[in-house]
Order: sequence, then structure tokens, then C-alpha cells
Amino acid sequence: MSNNYTEEINRRRTFAIISHPDAGKTTLTEKFLLYGGAINLAGSVKGKATARHAVSDWMQIEKDRGISVTSSVLQFEYDGYCINILDTPGHQDFSEDTYRTLMAADSAVMVIDASKGVEAQTRKLFKVCVMRKIPIFTFINKMDREARDTFELLDDIEKELGIATCPINWPIGSGKEFQGVYDREKKCVIAYSDTEKGTKEGTSTEIPIQDEEHLKELIGEDAADKLLGEVELLDGASAEFDLEEVQKGNLTPVCFGSALTNFGVEIFLKHFLNMTTTPLPRKADIGMINPTEHEFSAFVFKIQANMNKAHRDRIAFMRICSGKFDANMEVRHVQGNKVMRLSQPQQIMADERKILNEAYAGDIIGVFDPGIFSIGDTLCMPREKFQYEGIPTFAPEHFARVRQVDTMKRKQFVKGVEQIAQEGAIQIFQEFNTGLEEIIVGVVGVLQFDVLKYRLENEYNVEIRLENLPYEHIRWIENKDEIDLAKLSGTSDMKKVKDMKGNPLLLFVNSWSIGMTLDRNKGLVLTEFGRN
Ligand code: G4P
Repeated sequence: MSNNYTEEINRRRTFAIISHPDAGKTTLTEKFLLYGGAINLAGSVKGKATARHAVSDWMQIEKDRGISVTSSVLQFEYDGYCINILDTPGHQDFSEDTYRTLMAADSAVMVIDASKGVEAQTRKLFKVCVMRKIPIFTFINKMDREARDTFELLDDIEKELGIATCPINWPIGSGKEFQGVYDREKKCVIAYSDTEKGTKEGTSTEIPIQDEEHLKELIGEDAADKLLGEVELLDGASAEFDLEEVQKGNLTPVCFGSALTNFGVEIFLKHFLNMTTTPLPRKADIGMINPTEHEFSAFVFKIQANMNKAHRDRIAFMRICSGKFDANMEVRHVQGNKVMRLSQPQQIMADERKILNEAYAGDIIGVFDPGIFSIGDTLCMPREKFQYEGIPTFAPEHFARVRQVDTMKRKQFVKGVEQIAQEGAIQIFQEFNTGLEEIIVGVVGVLQFDVLKYRLENEYNVEIRLENLPYEHIRWIENKDEIDLAKLSGTSDMKKVKDMKGNPLLLFVNSWSIGMTLDRNKGLVLTEFGRN
């Protein structure tokens, strides 16, 4: 492959940002864009008080609730790198979506609020990252507010998340006294000013830490003494930086800063880009596919219908895993066994769309989907026919019976729930003897019920009623051909239903009922995962 081609791929960095809601993920993303020159003024950060909207925040429900429901993709250039950021929903109820998004990322940035440390959602999202075994970089944000003790924060990450930490920089003070950071690699102190409350890049002054005289002049005698003491302690106590351990996800480099005031953001970005990986090889059924040595291939990790009202369509998001994509070329959709041109390939940035002519491994593209793609599908060159590893579906833990209020709108109702189910946001089931006007919906997080109701009303003009069901566990019948469902004897809390492909499955209120049902029906094999 040509040099230019390899160069283009190697300058790509594709990562996801995760955090507990409100830790500052959106603000940090916007500051990255500010440095990349993608926006002029980082004043568009969403604010519940001011009703300004973040670039990556577009669904009404997100604005109403102040959480990110769906993930969006941002691309920008910085210092010769081409960066793709995948924003993820902060709320645990959307962790399945986060998992799918992480499948498309090569590393993750974890944002932590310095006054709170590791929070409930950080813990959950971190677990999802660990499942993906990707490098994780930590940004401890909001140092301009009263923060917890720095050593304690690191300890918290190590104990709560079970990952070793290696500070890349160290904060100089916190709250009103937060002046900047000490860069451990360069051994110099960087103090910030004039960022005009974070709306400008501002100016920074750098002084080597050995230059005590100037250091004291710059940050004050007390702060300098404190910093020198802490740095000594840190050099003696913290884990050695080891890039290999970072790449394996065993060690997280940590930076401190304030996304809001823009202190320490650029230095974090620089170190991060330096340490994180170029697009990684991916596993397929024919072996590992190398991004620079293989022609075009991609997989679908997300499907989203009706992204905005002006475009009533369905977009399949794919991550390009190898080679170069050209808008005019023919590709094979492996699962559909069809050779085609991808329709209207575009780069999607929040609610803006840009038609693409070319893209490279590492990039995320959205293509118009007439209803043929499913999550996990592979695309490759027409003469090839391999498949990337699938994306597992999470077992739903909450169930509700869904009824449409106006039975005349049956068609829209069925279309709506089917489309939303294809996106992977909900899973739908049916009782054996009812029609589609009444279905059972299973979700991983309860908020997805709200999203379903909202979307059916707003996008399909269908009003529904949800009746919560007490089930919490779901099992598919692995050996369904050997089992006579009518004779299956379960517990009183068990319900027999089928998925949309007609596969039988069982819902349980208690986990012990599963064991009891297995005992009562010799030969029955149950599985937690549905097959696509
Ligand atoms: P999220 O995407 O992780 O949910 O967080 P987001 O960036 O929306 O930030 C949540 C709140 O925290 C926002 O305040 C934001 O301004 C504030 N914030 C983010 N980074 C920092 C920081 O470094 N320091 C301080 N002090 N605050 C920070 P808000 O009140 O919800 O909105 P706004 O009215 O201030 O815009």
C-alpha cells in the first residue's frame, strides 16, 4: 500500500470518553475541539441553567434530562493527528450503547471529578472498558474547585477500580489556588493565565522545577514548597511509567486539570496522543486484520433512526478497521451477501452532516441504511468474505408490557418498536398467543423505557402505555428442538415468551427459579445470550 495511505492511517487516533454524568466530559471534549481549531469559542458547552447546547448533545430527551442518551462522533485535526472522539452516554442505563461504542474505539479517556473521585457510573463504565481490554487514560477534572487530596484521589482509583495509576502531571494547588500543573516528563512547571474563563487558549508560563527562585516568583513560596515536597514523595512512591502496561489496560496515566478554565487540557491532549495507539488490528474469522496491510473493511457498531426531524432516515455507523474507503467504490455487505455502493456516506458531527469522499482505518462513517444492516455486520472488498467478531447483546434486566393506546395505529406501532429494537436500544418479545399490538419489552436500564415512550410519540406518533413486569432474568432455550415447550414445567414466577424470530425463552423473577426449572426439566439447556 502507498506511503500516503499508511501515513493517513497512522496519524489517526480513535477514542471514547467515559465519565459519571457531570464530571465534565462534554466540557473537556469542547476544549479539545477548541485546541484543534474546530470551534472558535468553547462557549457552546451545554448548560442546564443557560440552555446553551453542547455540540455533541442533540436529542431533546438528553436536553430535558441533562444526560447523554446516545453517543455521537466528532472528528478534528490537532498537531498532525486526525482525531475521532466517540462520546458515550454517561448514564448506566445506556451501558449497552457504551459497550458498542467502545467496540469502535482503540482507547478510552475517563473523566473524574476531583471533588468526588470515583463515582457509581465511573465504576460501571470502567468495567465495560475492562471487558474491551483497551488502554484507559484518566483526566481528573475540576481542579479549580475544592478538590480531594491528590494522593487520595489516586488511591481511590487504584482501590475502587483495581488499576495502577501513573501521574503524568501534578496539580499546583486546587480551588482558587489552582495555578497549573507540573509536567513530570519535562520536569517543568506550567502556570496558566488569561484563558478568559476557559473560552480562550490563554497563555502559559513554563519554568524548570530546579529553578526554585523563578518558581517561587511564579507560583508563590508556599505553593512552591508544597509542590517540591509532593514531587519528591511522588517520584519515590508512584508506579513507573510503562507504555506496554498502559496498552494492556493494566496502568492508567493520570493528568489533572480544569476543563472549564482550560488549565492542563492541552498538555493532557498532547501526552495522551503521544501515548495512545494508532488504529489497532481487529479479530475476524480469517485471523487478525491489520489496518495498514489490508484493503477496506469495516463493521457496524451502531444504528440510529430519525436522528433529527429534518432527516427522517436511518443511519448505520461503521468503524473502518482497515484500508481506505472511497465513496465510489463497491463493497461487500457480508451478512447480507450483497455487493453494493454505500449510500450517502457521511461524517456526522452532532446534528451536522458532511458528505465524505474518502475515509481511512480509524474513522467512523455513517451511511444511509434502508433497513439492511444489523449491529455487528462486516463490510469488506467485493472479492473478500470475512466477518469481524460479533458484538454481544446484554441480557435485559427490566421488562414491561407495552400496549398502544390507539389500536388504529398498529402499523406505526409495529414499525416503531421494530426499528428501535434493531438499533439495539430495546429487545422485544411476545407471548405465544398474542399479536403484535401487545408486546413485552426488555431493557438493560429503566431509562430506556422513557426513551422508547418518547421516541414512539415523537417519531412515530404513537402513544403507548407501559406496565412494569416483575421479571429480572431471561434465558433462551439452547436445545429448543429437543424440548416440548407445552410440557415444560417451571416455577410459578416463570413466563414463557418468544423473541421476534420465534425462539422460545423464559423470564424469571428470581434467579433461584432458574435452577429449580433446570432441576425439574432434565435435559433442558438454558443460555443467557440470545443469538442474532
Ligand atoms: P458531563 O458531560 O460529564 O455530564 O459534564 P459537563 O461537561 O456537562 O459538565 C457538568 C457541569 O460541570 C457543567 O456545569 C460544567 O460547566 C461544569 N464543569 C465542567 N468542567 C469543569 C471544571 O473544570 N471546573 C468547574 N468548576 N466546573 C466544570 P453546569 O452548571 O451543569 O452548566 P453551566 O451552566 O456551568 O454551563
